[in-house]
Amino acid sequence: MKMTKTLTAIALGLGILAGAGNAQAAGAGVKPPSQDWSFNGIFGTYDRAALQRGFQVYRNVCANCHSLDLIAFRNLGDLGYNEDEIKAIASSYEVQDGPNEDGDMFSRPATPADRWPAPFPNSKAAAAANGGAVPPDLSLITKARGAGGDSALRVSLFHPGGFALGADYLHALLTGYKEEAPAGFSLPDGKYYNEYFPGHAISMAPPLYEGAVEYEDGTAATTEQLSSDVTMFLAWAAEPELETRKQTGIKVILFLIVLTAMLYALKRKIWSDVH
Ligand code: HEC
Repeated sequence: MKMTKTLTAIALGLGILAGAGNAQAAGAGVKPPSQDWSFNGIFGTYDRAALQRGFQVYRNVCANCHSLDLIAFRNLGDLGYNEDEIKAIASSYEVQDGPNEDGDMFSRPATPADRWPAPFPNSKAAAAANGGAVPPDLSLITKARGAGGDSALRVSLFHPGGFALGADYLHALLTGYKEEAPAGFSLPDGKYYNEYFPGHAISMAPPLYEGAVEYEDGTAATTEQLSSDVTMFLAWAAEPELETRKQTGIKVILFLIVLTAMLYALKRKIWSDVH
């Protein structure tokens, strides 16, 4: 009796979780096409060259409107930049510090320990500069727009690739603008038509176009390339520990396999007299 009750409770719980996941997916509009990200799968890793290009895109384009509050300059070491390069990047930005002895705030060049400086001092200023819409912080955007969004449990249970879904959405959003809204769709003033944005009317003008950034490594900067690179960069920003996490997982599984084999051998040895 107790057992059946527990099972029913578990089944109900899973059902509710699944339902919630579907509701969210339905509200999210057109399903973004899935991409073959290098970080997919259990052996997946980030592509360092793409990360550096993506950082260039964020820095030159997105950073004009979007903050990246959870990333400090020193974190760029993950992308393959060395200490001097990071110092040079940091010192080309000014950050607010203080108060000093006189109680005044002052600006100074950023150091590797500083967080990425936000483009606007507060959300009111951000909204005023963007036709009333606040550009969201991009630190966790690939997680926030993944399946389920708010529930890691739901993502891992029902959409093992939930994190990649967030990346798929971001890539689709950046390449999903249409010059004209379809006939019959009334696009409010100051909005742009986007296939993948829920409701299709977005306040962000298409941020990417061919040649928007001149890549340091000479890669041709097509809209597609810019979009997939910046998505890889933002996926890293949301989950910089992805590679370590996967490596640890693989080591744990290997350890468990070896341990199981040893225990089995031990069991056979101990019971060999009895059989
Ligand atoms: C000129 C300012 C501006 C630039 C540049 C810009 N954005 Fe935006 N972005 C916005 C605004 C404003 C919104 C809010 C749109 C809305 O809510 O309608 C937004 C929203 C977003 C969203 C959230 C969409 C959602 O699902 O809610 C993402 C993701 C995004 N931008 C990514 C980027 C990326 C990546 C870049 C760089 C390639 C970029 N943006 C460049 C202004 C900008």
